[in-house]
Amino acid sequence: MDIPPIIQKIAHISPRLMAWLEKQLMKTSKVQQEVDREMEKLLPELDRMANAYKLKFTTHHSLPEEGLSRDKVLEEVRNISSGEQSRWKEGYVSGAVYHGEDDHIEFLNQVYAIQSQSNPLHSDLFPSAGKFESEIISMTANMLGAGETKDDICGAVTSGGTESILLAMKTYRDYYRSEKGVRTPNIIIPVTAHAAFDKAGEYFGIKVVKIPIGNDYLVDIHKLERAVDRNTICIVGSAPNFPHGLIDPIEDLSRIAKRNNTGLHVDSCLGGFVLPFAQKAGFSVPPFDFNVDGVTSISADTHKFGYAAKGTSVILYRSPKLRSYQYYTIADWPGGLYFSPTFAGSRPGALSAACWAAMLSMGEKGYLEAVTKIIKTADKFKKSIADIPELELIGDPLWVIAFKSDSLDEYKIMDQMTEKGWNLNGLHKPSCIHICITLRQTQEGVSERFSVDLKEAVEMVKKNPENSTGMAPVYGMAATLPFRGVIKDILKKYLDLYYKA
Ligand SMILES: Cc1ncc(COP(=O)(O)O)c(C=O)c1O
Repeated sequence: MDIPPIIQKIAHISPRLMAWLEKQLMKTSKVQQEVDREMEKLLPELDRMANAYKLKFTTHHSLPEEGLSRDKVLEEVRNISSGEQSRWKEGYVSGAVYHGEDDHIEFLNQVYAIQSQSNPLHSDLFPSAGKFESEIISMTANMLGAGETKDDICGAVTSGGTESILLAMKTYRDYYRSEKGVRTPNIIIPVTAHAAFDKAGEYFGIKVVKIPIGNDYLVDIHKLERAVDRNTICIVGSAPNFPHGLIDPIEDLSRIAKRNNTGLHVDSCLGGFVLPFAQKAGFSVPPFDFNVDGVTSISADTHKFGYAAKGTSVILYRSPKLRSYQYYTIADWPGGLYFSPTFAGSRPGALSAACWAAMLSMGEKGYLEAVTKIIKTADKFKKSIADIPELELIGDPLWVIAFKSDSLDEYKIMDQMTEKGWNLNGLHKPSCIHICITLRQTQEGVSERFSVDLKEAVEMVKKNPENSTGMAPVYGMAATLPFRGVIKDILKKYLDLYYKA
């Protein structure tokens, strides 16, 4: 789709003006028709992605007349799942599965099986849930500087990084409304902060002010400070951020937060179980945890580098008073006295048990060894990328490595890597690709395979720069089309397809 340069410019300067302009342009049938045509082109690819199993397996549109035998159901689950393991097991996948050794998975499954009926909502029935969750929080807090402060660092176990972030933002909103009378709250985030902060803004009516990054890919700290006003409830820093794996200057953010009496949330969903051990192992890690005195909350994901099963994370606060604004309680409900610390009502206690088990079984030494292996492996990946003249590393990351190209289309390189079995993440603003190194890539031969495949992928794109298959057109369009509403519609279309049996 040909977009006049002036529109590209407006999109860059003012997303709000662009959103208005987009609405007006969409009213003209020519633009709408062209967008519809682009959409038509993308739909088959989206459908293929969303419904990969439609043709392979029986689709159950309605309940079977009679229940199938457990053996048959198990067989079906095994068949459906059988093709899904090899890519992540063999280290082809960025992030996603962080540990993945058979014995570790089997151990977590055993704990899950023992605890499968536990529900922390019924803590009277399952006191074990309280034991597991309070100890997960305590162990995580002590990893992140609680022991060195005089403050009563506390927290909650949640279902994942996004829930930890959503809860923290709701907590700041309610705290600042009640304690400081802030009625039109805003949060200040680097553009590289996770999408969960934007989601929090939409869900909870909080304005999200996004601060650009500079040439060093780090947030522009002066612009950030200028954006703070009396309605700012929280500043956000990531340690590290998802796109480029870079750590925001948390000490600078702390000074700004203290000067302005705002909260400071450190999103350490990716790094919470890496950075403390990287520090101990002697790698260079800037201060990012509760030892930085302006930090008022931290999210750290147990289900990533904590090596728990999917479905747990920890949100920590500097004080029980702040945390109390996260809690929900109702005292006049006919259903009885009801209280719940997080968004869900009933919760899977078994996941907390498995998380607790993962942490105990890893111990300090286990995490230290894992982190050392990951960062050393990441160094090999970084070198392979840096050795290819057409590619450029983004900043100086520890283990989440993003790279771009000034001469080639990154998304076409990513597609070539996909053809070779890799599953990397396509990012934009700037267009780049990243790989998050996990224990899967520390296996023998994986970094070497990456190096060979990446070289070949780059050569292939150099030889055939016009070839555009797979997801490259979708990413390309998302990166260049200034109409964000259209892109959002495409994503919604994908979700519709995903939910269509
Ligand atoms: C820095 C960061 N924050 C938050 C999240 C969200 O975590 P989740 O996908 O568990 O909700 C992620 C996920 O990758 C992340 O990398």
